[in-house]
This record gives sequence, C-alpha cells and structure tokens, in this order.
Amino acid sequence: MKIESIAVIGAGVMGSGIAAQIANAGKKVLLLDIVPNGAENRNIISQGAIQKLLKVKPAALMHKRNAKNITAGNLEDNLNDLANVDWIIEVIIERLDVKQDLYKKIDSVRKQNCIVSSNTSTLPLADLTAGLPKRFTNNFLITHFFNPPRYMRLLEIVVGPDTRPEAIETLTHFCDHQLGKGVVKCNDTPGFIANRIGAYWMQTAMLEAMRLGLTVEEADSICGTPMGIPKTGIFGLMDLVGIDIMPHVLTSMINSLPKADAFHEQAVIPDIVNKMIADGYIGRKGKGGFYRLNKSNGKKVKESINLMTGEYSISEKATLESLKPPTAKDLRKLVSFEDKGGEFAWSVLSKTLSYSAELVPEIGNNIEAIDRAMKLGYNWKYGPFELLDKVGVDWFINKLINDKQIIPPLLLAAKGKTFYTFENKLTLSLSLAGEHQPLQKDDGILILADLKRGQQPVKHNSSASLWDIGDGVLCLEFHSKMNSIDPDILSMIDTAVKIIPNKYKALVLYNEAENYSVGANIGLALFAANVAAWPQIEAMVKSGQGTYKALKYAPFPVIGAPSGMALGGGCESLLHCDAIQAHAESYIGLVEVGVGLIPSWGGSKEMLTRWMVNPKRAKGPMPAIGKAFELVSTATISTSADEAKSHLFMLPTDGITMNRERLLLDAKNKALQLVDGYSPPEEHEISLPGATARTALNLAVTSFVQSGKATEYDGIVADQLAMVLSGDDTDITDRHTEDDLFELERKAFLTLIKQAKTLDRVQHTLETGKPLRN
Ligand code: NAI
Repeated sequence: MKIESIAVIGAGVMGSGIAAQIANAGKKVLLLDIVPNGAENRNIISQGAIQKLLKVKPAALMHKRNAKNITAGNLEDNLNDLANVDWIIEVIIERLDVKQDLYKKIDSVRKQNCIVSSNTSTLPLADLTAGLPKRFTNNFLITHFFNPPRYMRLLEIVVGPDTRPEAIETLTHFCDHQLGKGVVKCNDTPGFIANRIGAYWMQTAMLEAMRLGLTVEEADSICGTPMGIPKTGIFGLMDLVGIDIMPHVLTSMINSLPKADAFHEQAVIPDIVNKMIADGYIGRKGKGGFYRLNKSNGKKVKESINLMTGEYSISEKATLESLKPPTAKDLRKLVSFEDKGGEFAWSVLSKTLSYSAELVPEIGNNIEAIDRAMKLGYNWKYGPFELLDKVGVDWFINKLINDKQIIPPLLLAAKGKTFYTFENKLTLSLSLAGEHQPLQKDDGILILADLKRGQQPVKHNSSASLWDIGDGVLCLEFHSKMNSIDPDILSMIDTAVKIIPNKYKALVLYNEAENYSVGANIGLALFAANVAAWPQIEAMVKSGQGTYKALKYAPFPVIGAPSGMALGGGCESLLHCDAIQAHAESYIGLVEVGVGLIPSWGGSKEMLTRWMVNPKRAKGPMPAIGKAFELVSTATISTSADEAKSHLFMLPTDGITMNRERLLLDAKNKALQLVDGYSPPEEHEISLPGATARTALNLAVTSFVQSGKATEYDGIVADQLAMVLSGDDTDITDRHTEDDLFELERKAFLTLIKQAKTLDRVQHTLETGKPLRN
C-alpha cells in the first residue's frame, strides 16, 4: 500500500501546518473545514488558512509554490472527495463528541483500507474509537504532530489493538521518509510521551523556581544550556508555547491520570500565573509573558516579571555562582553545588528523571522511545536516560537515598550499569530486565556519532576529521567553533584530495552540528588586517581558492551534505562539490557583504558561472550577472533546500532528504552512484561585458542608497562585487578562466579588507553575531 493522496480535516493552526508539510513533500493535499454559518464563500476557512500559510513566520512552506499542492474545500461540498484519498488526518477541535461525529461521516465515504488518523493531543485512542465498527478501527491510529509541524521533528504514533500492521507500517514509512519526522511509538496513555514528561518538567521547574526564590533569568539559565535544553529555558519556553495552554493541559491530565500519579503533585497553577492569563499576559502571542518587550525612550527594552510581586523590571542577566564554569559545564557539579541554583537544578532534574523512569513501560515500551521523544519533541540535547548516564546512575541513586526519595524500579535495575553502552560499533540500551541489548536501527539510517564511537578517524586536526563511513567513502567532518572554515579545515580538504585516490572512492562533506558551517573564520582576517599584513591576507584568500578548486577537480566524486546554516565560506565549499544532497532544512547563502566583503573563495565565480550556464536564463550575459549580483549583494539566504534550488545554490539534479537522520546515507549513496566512470567537471570559460555591466549594476544600488534601503558603504561593497561579476577591465570578446575570476575576487577582497568600515563590520559581527549597518 502506498500513500499518494491525502486529506487534512481541520484548517486551524495544526491542520494547516500539517497540510503545508505534506505539500512540502511534493504531495497533493485536500484541506477541509466547516462552512461557517451564513458564509458566502463556503471554503473561507481553508482558503484563509492557505493565505496565512504564505505569510506565517517561521515559514510553514519550504517554497511558496508548494501552496499549489493544497486544495481548499469544505466538509459539506467535498465530503465525497474523501473517497479518493489514501490517508485522512483529522485535526479539528479537541472535543470527543465532535471528533466521533466526524469519524462516522468519514467512514461512510472513505475507500476500503484508507487510513484515518487523529492529531489529538489528549484524547485516548480507546475513547476516540469507542462504538465505531471494526472496518474503521482496523484503519485508525493517532498521529500526534508537534507545533510547528514543519520544524518539530517528533511524530508520536499511537495504535489500537485493532490497527492493521500494514497501516502502521505504511504510515510510519511515509511520515519518516516523506515528511521527515522521527516517528516514536507510544502507548495509549494521557499526553503520550513527550507532553507527559514535558508538562511535568515545566510545572516542576516553574513551581521550584518560585519556592526557591529564583528570578526567571536564573531559572532559565540553569534549565537551559547546562542541562542541554534550548536557552529559552523554562519561562522562555512557556512564553513561546503560550501560558494559557497550561491550564488546559493540566486539567486534562488531572482528569485522566490515576490519583497516585506523581503528576498531581506538580499540577498547580500559581495565583500569579492565573492573574497573568486573566490580564492577557499569555506569552509572545499576547502582551508578553514572563518576559515582555517594553518601549522606553523610543527603544525596545526586555523586561521580566518578578515571580513574587508580579511587577516587571528590566531583565538582568543571572549571576549565580552555580552558573559559572566549571560548575555549569558539569551536570554532577551543578546539581551538587550549594546555592539556590544548584538546589533548583537538583530538584528539577531528580524529580523529572525519577518520573521518567517510573513511566517505562507505561507510556513507551523502552528507554529509547522516551529519550527520542524528549529530544525530538522538546529539543533536549539529551533524553532523560542519557542525562542519567551523564550524572551516573549509582551516584544519582545514592543522592536520592540521601534525600529519602523513593527509587523507581527501572533505576534499581540499572544499578551498577549505564543505560547505554557501546560494543563492536553497536549501541546497546538497557532493557527493563536490566540487560543490554542492541538498539534497533533502520537500514537507511547512518549516524556519524555512532560510527565515531567504534573507530579512530583516518585523519584528524583541531577543526576537522576524516572518517571512514564504509564502501570506500570518507566523510569530512568540520568541528571548529560554529564550524567556521579555518586553515585547519582547508588543510583537511587538501589531505582528503591527496589520500582518496590511493585508497578510497569518494568524499562526503557532512557533520552533525546544528549548522553545517556559519562561514569563514573572519577573526583571522581581522587580526591580519589590524597589523596590515596584506600579503598574508592575499595568501589566505588564495589558499582557500586553491583548496576549493582542487576539491572541484579532484579525480573522485565529492558530495556536500548540509543541514542548518551553510553560509559564506561554508556555502562556497558546497558550490565546489559535484553534487549536493541537502537536508530539507538547509539555509544556504553567501552573506559576505554583511561584513563588508564579497565571496572570494570562488563563491562569486560559482554563482556567476551557475547562472551563466543555466539553460532557463534569458539571452545575453546580463540577466545571469544581474541574478548573481542580486543574490550576493543582498546576502540572500535560502529558507529551505528547495528554495536553494531556485537560487542555484543547489542545482536541479541535487538531492533533498526530508529526514535529518537519513542524510548521511543518502549522501553516501549519491557519492557511490557517481563513482563508476567518474570524470571531474569540465572548466567553463565565460565572456563578460566589462564596464557597461558594472555601471548598470551600480545604478540599481544607487536607487537603494538614495531611498535609504542601503547605506553608502553598502554601495561601495556592491561596486566591488559588480567589478568581479562584470569582468572588470574587459569586453565581451575576451574569455575568462576560473583563475581569472579568482584573481578578480582577490582584488575585490583586498580592496575591501583595507577599508575601516569593513573592519568595523567584521569586529561588530564577531562581538555580537549580528551585522553592522554602517
Ligand atoms: P484550532 O482551533 O487552531 O483549529 C481547529 C479547526 O477545527 C478550526 O479550523 C475549526 O474551524 C475546525 N473545526 C471545528 N469544528 C469542526 C467540525 N465539527 N468539523 C470540522 N472542523 C471543525 O486547533 P489546533 O490547535 O489546530 O488543534 C487541532 C487538533 O490538534 C486538536 O485535536 C489539538 O488537540 C491537536 N494539537 C494541537 C497542538 C497545538 O499546539 N495547537 C499540538 C498538537 C496537537
């Protein structure tokens, strides 16, 4: 059975987001909602939802054209259309009676074996399907997406006793491969896995922060990076999710969990929070929440609430002793530290981890399900059982004993052991009986972190490593700070180019950091510029150009496999690969103008050549030059891999992988496909128009400068880019090799790096991470 056509019923926040992700996967989707009383336009709700999708931030659509994959309709006129679809997802209001009524309607028209799933977050599957015929329950399951559906990687699946195995398999495969989700099978219990533990953790952290008298900044700083949790921490997260959601979640949990469940102890909404909700302080979607932005003297000021008094004042950075290194960098030291930060950390961690241990196998059949759900659904760096391994199981148990706490049976079974261990390149996890068993891994998943545990790198330096990923393919991993490209990375690329022809077949550029690379290490250029070391700077630029050229013309296939940001020098590394296999969530761009420079490791050259040889472009060199100029001079970053193709940061033949976990294997396979009969690309020589083109490009920038959309210095930087892209002192009868273009890039770079305003931009970006508009 294959899923080709899909319908989503309910065009609210979640329904429209799920429809968008299906459209992103290139599938057609029918989006239905009710016809509001007296509405002239009977599709007003679903049509309105599609319009909103085109505007929402962060973007739900990976490319605006994907909206065309969504057809708007309503449940009255289009009910019969449901007979043609393979999967119907119900995403309507959270009311059992309304959902059940809908299922009856659906069942009267759906084709045999059409799968029906619900996105409910709180209603048990047993209740949803009560009284419905077997032919329906055989095809029914819960698919619980997280908000926003494009970006949140977790998909919880709950199946009933009747659900056909083939329906489960088909849907799991589809959601994993096509929608890019990490599918976690959960049991039919309230809140499933992630929200059961997540809501408990958030409540505990909020109540403990109040009990111990922490400020919101202190609580967020402790409950953030030191615990491997996004730096929004706990109060920042509640502002993001919406504080008004909490009472609903708690009521549903209180009503459905047995009295003895530890959740009840934390299920209290403090008066101050009730007042915030009543006053409209429900988080970022309202007037603000635990944090708010206030205007003072025309400037935006971040304020935070005093958890005791409810008054707001300017937000102050937390300065607790426990937040200083080395304590904050070592979880065991942090939870043992004797200040209120340490006490808070231990209290939240001990309660949350003990609760998680108590819930296996009730909510999920094994510890991996719990860890995966918390990592994919709450963006925790480590799951609860990985955290227990970090602090040490025995150490944790002893500290619980000291505190006179009850030890959950699963923790006792783990005594003297770890929850995870590694043997012969395999990851083993602890079973409920206390034995280590190999983790079940899908054949299509290759994780570099796992491979690294079982072997030494082929080559290594402080910024990059080469790993043997099997079948003759090497993986070049960046691991410098923020994966910025520095001389060590360049030298590792040189090494790969040297050693691969003797012993290996292909190379993949790939790493598992949040961002593939944020760009070249501009700190080095700034340092050299401050001592006027111009020849050294020229040598640095030339060396990068040489390395990327060698990569492009190496006698073996090279695949770039980015995920997250691939900017500046990182983007340039990809532009010199034979092909790219990108994670769908890749944000690619040449952003050098932001620091007053232009792409000079072949980025300007490659964009120009790509647009020049693009078969779809209009006649003459100017449209291509204009397009490359526009993309680079505005530091355009693609908002997805799909969009990167429209900008030619990626080529139409490049691949896109929806599921992050499948990226490395897809890239490796792409490399292997190119091995037989491989020959390096042919060099393109191009003709450029020279001064007339430079003038035309500058004219466009002048109007931006005059209207205040660009600064005068933006104009100067853009002119250097125009110089390169127009071919400088040339005319259309001349032919330009790649080396000629490299030379122009160097000329522009050296002109700009000598300017005080460029150095101010570089310095500012290094200090703040943001561009300076000078
Ligand atoms: P929403 O309120 O944004 O949208 C609900 C939609 O259902 C509306 O467009 C409404 O017109 C439609 N609707 C109402 N009655 C209907 C009926 N009788 N037949 C067909 N459509 C009807 O709600 P949201 O947030 O999108 O939630 C939808 C479902 O997803 C709920 O089951 C919720 O528990 C679940 N969910 C919500 C999450 C969230 O963060 N908002 C996260 C995960 C699950």
